[in-house]
Amino acid sequence: QKPIIPFEEIGADTLEEMISIFYSKVAKNPQLKPIFPEEMTETARKQTQFQIQYLGGPNVYTEEHGHPMLKARHNPFEITPARAQAWLECMSEAMDEVGLDGKIREVYFKRLVLTAHHMINAPDHDE
Ligand code: HEM
Repeated sequence: QKPIIPFEEIGADTLEEMISIFYSKVAKNPQLKPIFPEEMTETARKQTQFQIQYLGGPNVYTEEHGHPMLKARHNPFEITPARAQAWLECMSEAMDEVGLDGKIREVYFKRLVLTAHHMINAPDHDE
C-alpha cells in the first residue's frame, strides 16, 4: 500500500500551469492587484516551490528560503477577508482551467481555504 502524495497525483506540469494561470488572474483582480508586485515571475516561482512541498513533494521552498512562516511573511500586506475570498476565487478558477477535479481538488481546496483564512490580518474596509 503506497501512500498517496497529492503532488504526484497532480503532477509538476499541471501545478506549474495552475499557478501561472492563478497569477495572471491575481494581476487583473481589483482586490489583489494593489498588494502584488507588477512583475510576478519570482512570486510564481516561490509559490510553485511552496505548493510542491505543501502537497507532499520535496521541500524545495524550505531548501531555498528557509521555514515558510507564512503568516509572518504575509504581515507586510493588508490581508482582509475580501482579499482572502478573491485569492481563493482566482485559485478555484485556475483549478477549473487546468481541469483539476474530483476528490484531490476538493481536499486541496479545503486546505487552501483554511490557510487563506489564517493569513487574514486586517478587517474589510467599509465602503
Ligand atoms: C507571498 C498575498 C494567501 C503562499 C505573497 C505576497 C502577497 C501575498 C502580496 C508577496 C508577493 C511578492 O512580493 O512576490 C496573499 C493574499 C492571500 C494569500 C492576499 C489571501 C489570503 C496565501 C496562501 C498561501 C500563500 C493561502 C499558501 C497556501 C504564499 C507564498 C508566498 C506568498 C509561499 C511567497 C513568500 C516568500 O516571499 O517567500 N502572498 N497571499 N499565500 N504567499 Fe500569499
